[in-house]
Amino acid sequence: MEYPSIQILEKQFDDQPFRYPLFNHMLKLFFQDRREHYAWGAICATDLAYQLSLDRISFAEFGVASGNGLIELEKIALVLEAIYGIQIDVHGFDMGVGLPEIAGYRDLPNLWSKGYFPMDEQKLRSQLKKAELHLGNVSDTIPVFLDSSPSPVAFVAHDLDLYSSTINAFKLFEDKEDYLLPRVHIYFDDIIGFTYSKFNGERLAIEEFNARNEKRKIDQIYRLSFFLGKRTFWDESIYLLHIFDHALYAKNDGLLQISVIQNNNCPLD
Ligand SMILES: C[S@@+](CC[C@H](N)C(=O)[O-])C[C@H]1O[C@@H](n2cnc3c(N)ncnc32)[C@H](O)[C@@H]1O
Repeated sequence: MEYPSIQILEKQFDDQPFRYPLFNHMLKLFFQDRREHYAWGAICATDLAYQLSLDRISFAEFGVASGNGLIELEKIALVLEAIYGIQIDVHGFDMGVGLPEIAGYRDLPNLWSKGYFPMDEQKLRSQLKKAELHLGNVSDTIPVFLDSSPSPVAFVAHDLDLYSSTINAFKLFEDKEDYLLPRVHIYFDDIIGFTYSKFNGERLAIEEFNARNEKRKIDQIYRLSFFLGKRTFWDESIYLLHIFDHALYAKNDGLLQISVIQNNNCPLD
């Protein structure tokens, strides 16, 4: 399939006060049968890279298991590469043998056990086109990944299930700004329903990350459903890592079309 360039697509929305209608249009047109929750974060992340004039970025999935998510992320990346002309490296991180040891109540032992979600590595490798698999515990594989000077990470799908694994994976978010966009879009899979809370699992890891880092904070994009124009199971699961002292943090991200808003066309007033 031929994809239109971002320059063609954005022209149709230059009378809109916000960039969200363009993102919604792309979601509907190109990603309806893809994982919308990955696609949304990936669109926003690639668009930010475009606004920052970057030519190469990374997407990552933490927690790959059988690989359904990574395969989708790879397809999403290929479409966005064609639209934006930005090279997108795709990385998948997983133990390869299912969940590691459950380390107490913070890891929700009522839900999870060691060995859940094993991977068929050979089968998955035969299905992947460009994604790189980093097999082993994230506490070992992330330092190796960072040593390889990756292109800056723009979007992360977090699906490691456990607090102990998630807090280790956040080491990526504490590393050099060269490896990160000033705002990294994140989808967190394990925060809605069940027995998740801010005292266990991914949300506890987020709380601790924020307490530990003065200039880096992870927070939800509040009321995203309004801008999406629909409620979904995932609209409360999209977060941003803000790196407030990143050299590119203050560069305009084009989310507000200020000339339109200044003509009193702001739907929020
Ligand atoms: C629910 S599965 C991921 C499902 C996948 N995202 C999908 O959408 O198909 C969780 C995965 O996280 C991985 N995992 C959990 N803790 C890990 C750790 N410390 N290091 C590497 N992988 C880990 C497990 O191996 C497991 O395969």
